[in-house]
Amino acid sequence: MNFKQLTVFSLLASAIALPVSTKAQTPVINIKATQPVAEIQPTMWGVFFEDINMGADGGIYAELVKNRSFEFSKPWMGWKIERKKAEEGDIIIQNRQGNTVNPRFISVKANNISKGELGITNEGFKGMGIKKGLRYDFSVLYRHQKGSVKFHLELLDSKGNIIGETTLIPTGNGHDWKKEAISFSATETEAKGKFRIWFEGNGEIDLDMVSLFPEDTWKKRPGGMRADMIQLLADMKPGFIRFPGGCIVEGIDLANRYQWKKTLGPVEERQLIINRWNVEFAHRPAPDYFQTFGLGFFEYFQLAEDIGAEPLPILNCGMACQFNTAEVVPVNELDSYVQDALDLIEFANAEPNTKWGKVRADMGHPAPFDLKYLGIGNENWGPQYVERLKVFTKAIKAKYPNIKLVNSAGTDPSGDRFDYLNKELRAMNADIIDEHYYRTPDWFLKNAGRYDSYDRNGSKIFAGEYAAQSDKTVSVKNVNNWKCALSEAAFMTGLERNAQVVNMASYAPLFAHAEGWQWTPDMIWVDNLRSYGTPNYYVQKLYSTNKGTHVLTTTQNGTPLTGQEELYASGILDKKTNEVILKIANVSDKEQVREVNLEGIKKIDAKAKLIVLKNANPEALNTFENATNISPVEETITLNPKKKISLTLAPNSFTVLRVKLL
Ligand code: AHR
Repeated sequence: MNFKQLTVFSLLASAIALPVSTKAQTPVINIKATQPVAEIQPTMWGVFFEDINMGADGGIYAELVKNRSFEFSKPWMGWKIERKKAEEGDIIIQNRQGNTVNPRFISVKANNISKGELGITNEGFKGMGIKKGLRYDFSVLYRHQKGSVKFHLELLDSKGNIIGETTLIPTGNGHDWKKEAISFSATETEAKGKFRIWFEGNGEIDLDMVSLFPEDTWKKRPGGMRADMIQLLADMKPGFIRFPGGCIVEGIDLANRYQWKKTLGPVEERQLIINRWNVEFAHRPAPDYFQTFGLGFFEYFQLAEDIGAEPLPILNCGMACQFNTAEVVPVNELDSYVQDALDLIEFANAEPNTKWGKVRADMGHPAPFDLKYLGIGNENWGPQYVERLKVFTKAIKAKYPNIKLVNSAGTDPSGDRFDYLNKELRAMNADIIDEHYYRTPDWFLKNAGRYDSYDRNGSKIFAGEYAAQSDKTVSVKNVNNWKCALSEAAFMTGLERNAQVVNMASYAPLFAHAEGWQWTPDMIWVDNLRSYGTPNYYVQKLYSTNKGTHVLTTTQNGTPLTGQEELYASGILDKKTNEVILKIANVSDKEQVREVNLEGIKKIDAKAKLIVLKNANPEALNTFENATNISPVEETITLNPKKKISLTLAPNSFTVLRVKLL
């Protein structure tokens, strides 16, 4: 019998005494399996999404053309004009008056030219990921001012070879903008592709919104999201998705804050702004990082629905990022900000016969999104935050008393700012307080008992952003190693044990592009063609897919395991499947054995599920080449229902055991 991690010798109710043997010395983890102490909220384990590290543009938003509307600060950024011979004015940028949202477009003057004489090439976001045999959907807005101009569309590999092509003759004429689209297939796979348009003919044409999407978007939606990245999220079965951030909610200044109303409707009417991560870190400049909002609030709500997660939007509270300008709106002038919050609830929840419910319905979703949670402010702090928050809270609760509001506890889990906010927010009876901790693995281990002493009847906790830092916060040396992930797994036993208080938790940040990141560590890494989950991803996934419904008192020698002998444990019940689920992190470099006693249980299924995430090397990583180096190994094990359970815990391991009760 080779049970590797778990050797089953015996299981029986606690009433039965063990025969005297050496086994008697094995420490026992006791789970009061028939006495649930608290409910675990379905929202418990979720995901935090922000457009950082090329998370949205160049990330989950599958658009391949960078700066498709020529609205980046430098209008030709991402583009190259290709010319055989220079001719004055053959391609120019124009800025139309009267369109403040998307003013720029290009005008092409073709003077009896052939293919190869005049064109434009787009470099994509760190190149374009192109897949052999896949269909690519091109579209463009155009005005055919004069004559006739034909397009030759070409996908290029990194050496400039053509790996997909077609031609398009725009049919419409006149002064109105029209949309034309055509699809074609790629003949090769290329991670660093480009896209070129040659112009041919004699005439003048204006172009805007030059766009190219792959066919294989999430749910095959045109203009949709990158399926492999979304699939990784869906596989987690997250309880909620927080969006759109993060610091981008606040913006560098108020003009560059996230404004959800500007992210709705046709994409050409969504006004882009600079992404605050464009300029945030001098050591990681990202001059081509903008928010085009092709992915906007409608799409976020739809994504939440797709993956079965509660939507959790976070709104600006009238304050820009306090690490940047700290610009604020005067408290007596917050009306439009508060109205944005009220309108968002109407957008998400009201019937189509309301103003904002109609906007949602017109975008293709007549049924409400059933919004239950709303965050006011991201990582804001100080009295300025509290006084603004009070204005929002009063207005929102008056109209929508059932919406649960998430309030910021600032940037850190301790210190004067935290203490001040914690006191103020609790005095306000905050529904949910959003705590953030980017700390060392050691901090996570030491804080596994953080919530044991929190008031059971007070505000609930959202562990809204956390990640163990292998070096230090915002260091470029941080990596997603196993030591960090295991420390998070250990810490999370404490979140789970305290599910009565902690109702939501999410790792942050979520995505990073290998060539376009600003912040490490991150849960999922991608390049233009590939994506993989870090060990931290698998820890999160193990929690969210083994979520259970109720907390069970789980102790060794009468106390919860919060680091004794470097073990951390939590036991829960899944009432839906009638299983006890035990999670144990062994952060020591030694194998450890524990007996598990399911107190009060007389009968269990002989077949149990054992899932182990482990690596002997705390520095070990997952990589593109070895994406599942550290990933869960699952097996069905056979228990002897007459004996106790003996668990052998590998060094540096995280173990999940699911035992079915009969
Ligand atoms: O997750 C990265 C950043 O960390 C978030 O944008 C911000 O909320 C926090 O400071």
